[in-house]
Amino acid sequence: MSSAVVIPAAGLGLRLGGETPKAFREVGGDSLLVHAVRGLKAATAADLVCFVVAVPPGSEETVGKELTPYVGDARLIVVAGGAERPASVRAALDVVPIDGIDCILVHDAARAFVPADAIERVVAAVRAGAEAVVPVVPVTDTIKRVGPTGDVVDTPDRSTLVAVQTPQGFAPDVLRRAHAAGADAAVTDDAMMCERIGVTVRTVEGSPDAFKVTRPQDLLLAEALLAERRI
Ligand code: CTP
Ligand code: MG
Repeated sequence: MSSAVVIPAAGLGLRLGGETPKAFREVGGDSLLVHAVRGLKAATAADLVCFVVAVPPGSEETVGKELTPYVGDARLIVVAGGAERPASVRAALDVVPIDGIDCILVHDAARAFVPADAIERVVAAVRAGAEAVVPVVPVTDTIKRVGPTGDVVDTPDRSTLVAVQTPQGFAPDVLRRAHAAGADAAVTDDAMMCERIGVTVRTVEGSPDAFKVTRPQDLLLAEALLAERRI
C-alpha cells in the first residue's frame, strides 16, 4: 500500500505580504515547503513513494534541488502551478504515477507543521475504504451568514460546523474524476470537488498545529511552535 502526495505550493501569499511566494518564506531557517515535506516524510505509516509539488512557474529547478535531500528514496516531481489552487493541484495530479498507488494526499505547503498522527489518521481512513477524507477541528468562533448588505441573515448551529485542514486523502480514481469535472471560483478545497460529484467525504480528527500560514501573525505562531518543538 503506497501513497503519493500532491503539494500545491504555487500561491503568491498575498494576505501574508512580502516579496517572496509564501511557500518559500522561512521559519526557523527553513522554508514552509521544506517543513511541509519533512513533516509528511516523518509520517512513515503514510508510506509516501512520490512527492509532486506545484510551484510558481520558473522555480521548478531550484525547488527540485532544494527538496531532494528531504524526500529520501521517494520520487520527487516538481511542476509549474496554475493561477488558482485547483489548477495547481490539477497540474500536479496529472503527473502522479498511476500504478501501485492506493492513496493520494493533497497537502497545502502553507500547513507546514501538521503532525504525523493527523496525517496517519487520514491515510488510515482511505485505506479503510473511505473515498475522500478531511482532517477537521472544531470551530471556535461563532459563524454568521451575512447578506449582500452586510446584515446578518442567520447563525448556523456551531456544533455542526468544523474547520477543514489538509492533508486531504483520496482514492486516486475519485480525485481524478473530481478534477476532470472541473473547478470554478467557488472551489476552495479538493474535498468540495468530490462532494460535487456525489462522493461522501469522511472526517477525521485534525490538529491545531496544522493551521494554515495565511497572515503575518501566523508566522509568529509558526516560529513559537517550532521553538517549542525544538526544546
Ligand atoms: N496555491 C497554489 N496555487 C495557487 C494558489 C495557491 O498552489 N495558484 C497553494 C498555496 O501555495 C498554498 C495553498 O495552495 O500552499 C493554500 O492556498 P493559500 O493559503 O490561499 O495560499 P496563497 O494563495 O499563496 O495565499 P493568498 O491567497 O493569501 O495569496
Ligand atoms: Mg490563495
